[in-house]
Amino acid sequence: MCGIVGYIGRKDAKDILLHGLEKLEYRGYDSAGIYVQNKAHEGYLFKEKGRIAALREKVDASVEATAGIGHTRWATHGAPSVRNAHPHQSFSERFTIVHNGVIENYQEVKDAYLGDIDLKSDTDTEIIVQLIAWFVEEEDLAPIDAFKKAIVALEGSYAIALMDSENPDVIFAAKNKSPLLLGKGDGFNVICSDAMAMIKETDQFVELMDKEVATVTRESLVIENYSGDIIDRNAYTAEIDSDDLEKGTYPYYMLKEIDEQPAVMRKLLLKYQDENGKLTVDQEIVDTMLESDRIYIIAAGTSYHAGLVGKQLIESMTHIPTEVHVSSEFGYHTPLLSEKPFFIFISQSGETADSRQVLVKTNALGHPSLTVTNVSGSTLSRESNFTLLLNAGPEIAVASTKAYTAQIAVLAILSEVVGISKGLIKKGTMLHDIGIVANAMQAIVDDKEKIEELAADYLSISRNAFYIGRGMDYHVALEAALKLKEISYIQTEGFAAGELKHGTIALIEEGTPVIALVTEKGVAGHTRGNLQETQARGAHTMVISMDGLNRPGDQIVIPHVNPLLSALVSVIPTQLLSYYCSLHRGNDVDKPRNLAKSVTVE
Ligand code: AGP
Repeated sequence: MCGIVGYIGRKDAKDILLHGLEKLEYRGYDSAGIYVQNKAHEGYLFKEKGRIAALREKVDASVEATAGIGHTRWATHGAPSVRNAHPHQSFSERFTIVHNGVIENYQEVKDAYLGDIDLKSDTDTEIIVQLIAWFVEEEDLAPIDAFKKAIVALEGSYAIALMDSENPDVIFAAKNKSPLLLGKGDGFNVICSDAMAMIKETDQFVELMDKEVATVTRESLVIENYSGDIIDRNAYTAEIDSDDLEKGTYPYYMLKEIDEQPAVMRKLLLKYQDENGKLTVDQEIVDTMLESDRIYIIAAGTSYHAGLVGKQLIESMTHIPTEVHVSSEFGYHTPLLSEKPFFIFISQSGETADSRQVLVKTNALGHPSLTVTNVSGSTLSRESNFTLLLNAGPEIAVASTKAYTAQIAVLAILSEVVGISKGLIKKGTMLHDIGIVANAMQAIVDDKEKIEELAADYLSISRNAFYIGRGMDYHVALEAALKLKEISYIQTEGFAAGELKHGTIALIEEGTPVIALVTEKGVAGHTRGNLQETQARGAHTMVISMDGLNRPGDQIVIPHVNPLLSALVSVIPTQLLSYYCSLHRGNDVDKPRNLAKSVTVE
């Protein structure tokens, strides 16, 4: 979703900003812009619809400036266009702003202060910059005071960077709910939505917290709260290997990230092993889980699908009843909670606004929480009691792959450690079993040509498709369907195999692809029967089965693994089918239309 960068130093600001915006491309956007200004108070604004590459072409290479702000916009208010792209300027062009988030009371603010003037854009953002200019001009406030007064009037979510052409030596920033980091350098400082954007310049970052304002100059970073109290906060070192951010020889990040999964499994086993070679998790997390009478997993999208698998792992290994909820529903339609709930938030980015609104509520109720995330220092990680990291390395493709399997593996490790502590498991097997999973994943990614052919055969012209399965296979069917629809734009449904005949089978036509997942012994025959029912009605059927349950003619047979972990392996061919289908259709695999990687609005 929208990304912000800012730089104030001695180097060419426009190059640093453009590079930073390229590193934020993965978040999803539809337009972008930068504003730079020099010490002679000359400001230059460049905006373009579409990709950063188009913006780069528009930027005048002869402009010299050592401070500026930039933005990638994912449209919320107003269509994607140059007119609505950020940065936005006040009427006098003195103030320039970039904003990430949604201002919920923008109409009320406009009516209260700006009357019926015609704004230059259709965005909620422009109101902020016009309001700041209004406070400076009408109430004679200093820019920092006008900035503070304006943001106090705002309701909603925001990360903001502001520049004043009459004071080119400072960038102001503020945040509420949307993420914003300040980066420290020698003779320069930066602002960014994500450390990845500025890791080339510095690895020292300071988090800006909700309802704080920062004054950023070349030499200093000053943070204060809305009451004016100065806040002293240490920088942390962002552990991002800039090589991890490159595609290398891969055509797309998604393929690289699919291929990385065996290595991620092995790395996780190392990270969660103690000095005696046993899997281990922070004892406080284990104790808190053991004290709870019910676990509530909260997540969105792919992370929600990982949660469905997680529920099965947790319940079978710990015997603690577990519910899984879509975060955007849970916060506003909260079910009756048990007496001692324990919340697990699953989020690759750790920034998903839908999940965060639930965490804010559960924190207010005093319930303990754990975040399972790929991003240390992310908002969900900071605001929950405990964090378990995925250690999957940056996931750049919008379609989540390695984070999904890492989330399930972390939940499997956690479940086994808790199960052992509770005396339910005598001797853990997950260390060995996840090692076997890594080998099985490797065998599939090494044989991907076969899956490319199947994608061409089954999915090249279809307009709709189905994945079906039962139990664990049903959970994977949901994830497989999401993956296919989000990057191929084929309308795909993941279905409980037995439920098809209760209505949805009406959609099966001659040639409709139906892909069955068959990895669970007890229901394998039933799922095959349901697949037959679709075949009898003309479906073009495919089977992904597990070794031992396979039958002649199955298109994909995955190696045998512990059935509790089958999702980790059966999902890999479905990821590859989606990848090749999207590739064959000529889509931008890593940046599917309308989507954002980090969804920071509700
Ligand atoms: C999946 O491919 C998507 N990128 C999306 O469903 C994603 O899983 C969802 O938006 C949740 O994101 P999070 O894991 O960062 O919270």
